[in-house]
Amino acid sequence: MDLWYTIVFTVFPYLCLTTFVLGHGYRYVTDRYGWNARSSEFLEKKRLFAGSVIFHAGIILTFFGHAGGLLIPQRVFDAFGIDAQGHMAIAFWSGLTVGVAAFAGVLLLGWRRLGQPRLKIVTTVNDAVTLAALTFVIGAGLFNVVFGHYNVLYSVAPWIRGIVSFTPDAALMRGVPLGYQIHVTAAWALLGFSPFSRLVHIWSAPLFYLLRPPILFRRRAGHLPPA
Ligand code: HEM
Repeated sequence: MDLWYTIVFTVFPYLCLTTFVLGHGYRYVTDRYGWNARSSEFLEKKRLFAGSVIFHAGIILTFFGHAGGLLIPQRVFDAFGIDAQGHMAIAFWSGLTVGVAAFAGVLLLGWRRLGQPRLKIVTTVNDAVTLAALTFVIGAGLFNVVFGHYNVLYSVAPWIRGIVSFTPDAALMRGVPLGYQIHVTAAWALLGFSPFSRLVHIWSAPLFYLLRPPILFRRRAGHLPPA
């Protein structure tokens, strides 16, 4: 039993993280021109706009919610006057809002691809697996938010901090409901798979675009006398 916990909650996460890091390096070196979101906007715009905007807003906020809520220890929240109960209430309502958005968005993206012959043709097995895996991970997370009502602050949260600080303790995952165990394990698997999918585009978010100096546009100087 202990061995199983060690394999699933220590060995497997590190295997996926290693694949994640080395996989991105390998992909960047071997497939630099394939490093993109493989946008299908030129084939269909309307449904993509709805699905993509709702999905990206939901999933990016979910990412920050996970990072802030799980990686920052409860004692820091206590210092700011947010006790465990308050923390869980914030996690529930914000998780529900952004989780529903991410889930609705990914379902819309899947429906868009399945429902249109010209999109079906360009959808690879890899694209389908990516969307199905995202649907599963987000769906399991949302299921836990709605039906789980389990306090993760003293089990899943310190376990994940242990993984990222290289002091893993699989025993912390003992007694955690199955729904949560499935969600975290599927999320690791998705992380390990992501370097080999279109998800590599996440690391090429054009953040510098927001800071670039404004471009000056000038009227054509046709009215000026020739030099
Ligand atoms: C970091 C910021 C991100 C940016 C700037 C970004 C940008 C884009 C762009 C330009 C596309 C192609 C056009 C479109 O479908 O709208 C796309 C597609 C996609 N993105 Fe992102 N993305 C980001 C984060 C993420 C994250 C965190 C995920 C999931 C973990 C994700 C998953 C996807 C998927 C699955 C598609 C394909 C949708 C489809 O065509 O069916 N993206 N993204």
